Amino acid sequence: SAEAQAPELLVLVGPMGAGKTSIGRRVAKATGLRFVDTDKAIAQGHGPIPAIFADHGEAQFRVWEREAVAEALAAGGVISLGGGAVLAPETRALLRTVPVVLLTVSPEAVAVRIAGEGRPLLHGEEDPVQRWSRIYAERRALYEEVADAHFDTSRVPMSRVAEQVVEWMR
Ligand code: S3P
Repeated sequence: SAEAQAPELLVLVGPMGAGKTSIGRRVAKATGLRFVDTDKAIAQGHGPIPAIFADHGEAQFRVWEREAVAEALAAGGVISLGGGAVLAPETRALLRTVPVVLLTVSPEAVAVRIAGEGRPLLHGEEDPVQRWSRIYAERRALYEEVADAHFDTSRVPMSRVAEQVVEWMR
């Protein structure tokens, strides 16, 4: 057709609890692209993420994460990355060449979203929201460095953010 095509690839980055998986799934459905969550791909290959952190350590998780991100980017689709994927310089180099949307959320709104198990980095003595805020502060510049667009999900329904992302893609 003569109509402009939406890009075949979109990457979602941002801190834990920003809505990357939830919004990514919706954007994939709306655009007909496949959806890939790199955390899920890692878990499929190597077992549950808390078990990876406990048995192999974060450094090994980051190695497997870099592999999962490179594979997902090569295959295309709507790809949501784990919150720490941008720590890898190789990953940031890849992200500079593709459309990247940054999703953010306020500490107030994230509290309810990060409740529960499954995110080993938020476990420990420190209050989870304080820990989340500290980790986010450390990574903020990395997210901004790779992002082409930025949406905050704190006060907007996930369905609406997904629509905004789809509009941005067109
Ligand atoms: C992490 C975020 C998690 C997951 C792992 C580490 C991080 O993904 O990759 O627990 O370093 O921020 P989500 O951002 O999908 O929670």
